[in-house]
Amino acid sequence: MQNALSPIVIRSTGYFLPERVLTNDDLSKIVETSDEWIAERTGIRERRICADDETTSDMAYGAALDALKNANLKPEDIDLLIVATITPDFKTPSVACILQERLGLRNVPAFDISAACSGFVYCLEICGQLMRGGVYRNALIIGAEKLTSVTDWTDRTTCVLFGDAAGACVLSKTDTPGVGLIGNILGSDGSHPDILNIPGGGSRLPLTKENIDDKTQYIKMNGREVFKLAVRVMEDVARKLLERHGLTTQDINLVIPHQANTRIIEALTKRLEIPNERVMLNIEKLGNNSSASIPVALAQANEQGRLKKGDYLLLLAFGAGLTWGASLIKWN
Ligand code: ACO
Repeated sequence: MQNALSPIVIRSTGYFLPERVLTNDDLSKIVETSDEWIAERTGIRERRICADDETTSDMAYGAALDALKNANLKPEDIDLLIVATITPDFKTPSVACILQERLGLRNVPAFDISAACSGFVYCLEICGQLMRGGVYRNALIIGAEKLTSVTDWTDRTTCVLFGDAAGACVLSKTDTPGVGLIGNILGSDGSHPDILNIPGGGSRLPLTKENIDDKTQYIKMNGREVFKLAVRVMEDVARKLLERHGLTTQDINLVIPHQANTRIIEALTKRLEIPNERVMLNIEKLGNNSSASIPVALAQANEQGRLKKGDYLLLLAFGAGLTWGASLIKWN
């Protein structure tokens, strides 16, 4: 089943990583943990973290410039800009508006979306559908997160997981049928708000000195529950999407899963019977970058020459909300 409207392709990818590296050994000096525990339970050995004055929009800008250069396009060629993030510079204006100004884009709609670790897969679908509508020719979509700004550095159950990064893609209309964004399934379930959330700082619990002391501004997570749900939901959405398009997991050349935990990814790809060599992993060096995780992994797979014309790629995401999504792409 192909989308009959204009095909949309990923014209280029790009990414940006902050320079500072935080290793597991560094973390073991902050909380009671060890390289061995973190690596065995999560697959993470190190992560990048922003400098104190480096922001989500700074990383998004770096990733955007990289994607524009790789697309051989100038900012004025872009007519739509969407950023996925849960760690914006400000509650308002959006990261997308900050970027609109910094990139010198003119008269473009620019907005952020919030779907946590599924943000980039949500972005692909939103952007693809807006472009198919006819008006937009080239769009810039970005997943960018400074997760270290919402990390509780005294909580060893969460602080070992997260890192900062940004990944970007330029999407363009094409006349070639049957390539690019083939299909997408998104989902959500708001009935588990407490298993992964940031309780403070919103309209329900505006920050006060007292609740800042209670650390309500940081990510809280029930890791075990997230783990179980993540595997189940991503397997289900992958199977549904492939079935919808008359494909099986054998047809997929590369799976690019959200990089939350190596054990989640292994359990998922084992159930889907996808061998390790067809799974993109970068979590060892980057940790979990939420909505930046998939676009950075996609850009690195591209940089490593792992994406070949005609390949089927399957992006699989799961995150707070809960939200989830799968995207099927035929590389061009
Ligand atoms: N170092 C050492 N010990 C630790 C650490 C740590 N960093 N963290 C927890 N422990 C201890 C616990 O206190 C517990 O000790 P106890 O048995 O004495 O009580 C023990 O290790 C086991 O803890 P569990 O929470 O059961 O460990 P688990 O094997 O479930 O691993 C983890 C925890 C890594 C968080 C895992 O549950 C996980 O990855 N869950 C998925 C959640 C996830 O990936 N979230 C990412 C954000 S959301 C997203 O991206 C979708």
